[in-house]
Amino acid sequence: MNITNDSDAVALLKQLAAENGLDIAGGTIRRSSSRFCLGVEHGDYNGTELFGVGTDRFIWMAYKPNGTDKVRLFSGNFPDDGVVEFTYGYVPEPQTVKDSWARFPYGVDYILRREGFALSSGMDCVLYGNIPGGGMSRSASLSLNLILSILDVNGIDMDDQLKIVDLAQAVENDYIGSPCGQLDQIMILFAKEGMGTHYNPQDRSINYVPLGDGATDFRIVGLDTGTVRPGLEKSTYRIRRAECDDFVTLLQNNGYDIASLAQIKDEATYQKIITQFGETNADMCERMTYIYKAQQRFYEMLDAWKAGNIEKVGEIFRLDGIGLRDEYRISGPELETMCDIVRSVEGVLGERMLGGGDKGAAGALVKADSIDAVQAAVDTAYPRSRNDYADKYAVHVCKVVDGMRVYEDMLD
Ligand code: GLA
Repeated sequence: MNITNDSDAVALLKQLAAENGLDIAGGTIRRSSSRFCLGVEHGDYNGTELFGVGTDRFIWMAYKPNGTDKVRLFSGNFPDDGVVEFTYGYVPEPQTVKDSWARFPYGVDYILRREGFALSSGMDCVLYGNIPGGGMSRSASLSLNLILSILDVNGIDMDDQLKIVDLAQAVENDYIGSPCGQLDQIMILFAKEGMGTHYNPQDRSINYVPLGDGATDFRIVGLDTGTVRPGLEKSTYRIRRAECDDFVTLLQNNGYDIASLAQIKDEATYQKIITQFGETNADMCERMTYIYKAQQRFYEMLDAWKAGNIEKVGEIFRLDGIGLRDEYRISGPELETMCDIVRSVEGVLGERMLGGGDKGAAGALVKADSIDAVQAAVDTAYPRSRNDYADKYAVHVCKVVDGMRVYEDMLD
């Protein structure tokens, strides 16, 4: 299936609904995007500011109240799971469902009820997504979409958007068991076409930053390696997160007044820690170095974005990638193969691993007129280097889009 636009997606959802006995006629479509982080990757759980955009790989969800207290859902991506059906309040215990996408709707029911939301209106729902796994935030897009849709059919308005972010993270942290931060949810929920979203965790503020005038026409490219990244709970991500927390505790026990690695911002403190722990905790000092330098680059990147200097944004993206590979050590061999292939293509401004790490997708910022060259380079070199994934990799050329859209009249 190669669904790329709203009307094809809606036609597919109608067909899937009919085939599976679900009634969505006259219902609502909610489309949630993927996201692309421009900084600081792996900064969210380390307390840094964040910047990113929504990208046009989506999950489309069609739904309508069904007059019962049951939720019935069918995913076109997991047809073998059939129609998932449950009554509000009756879902398996957290972290007991491992092998079905149904853990997401179960988790949404579990978390919404835990947080005191009264759910009684069930729905029929059909969904389909074209977001590649590992790096572009498929799970956050799904969690957000389900939360907003279930709240909608239950007539619950939620003005506090950050509360939605917290709920979606709780679905993953507490029900699914994935130790994700909030980067993905923030970058999807707030994303606006043509804008970057800047999040400051100090006051939880969101600022939209337009790309400066005169910027070179560029595309955001997702380079799906074709590998499957297991849940974050099973990946290096969980280890890195715990290591960072432990290192912060060690520093606190040694008199440093910090709550996260992001708070090591001045050169004197940074150097002092390196002198004190550089030998005993060499790996952690390197990880701290990534966060320290990536934060400095972050502000340069933001200035470059504002100035429309996309070449500089790309340069910093590339440096972040080298830091993630060599200092933070969260990349993976196939991700680096993709990066190595595109790095030397004329017109590629920067490239690096994306998201959680180990497997999944890398990404690149590419001049619009160099897209064909990137595709050709990947088609030639990737299958040669990574033969096991020769028929699984993909190049996704993306635009910057709204994170959430609701269409009320496409199912009439
Ligand atoms: C995953 C997590 C996010 C974030 C990124 C890395 O996508 O879900 O919270 O930590 O990795 O930046």
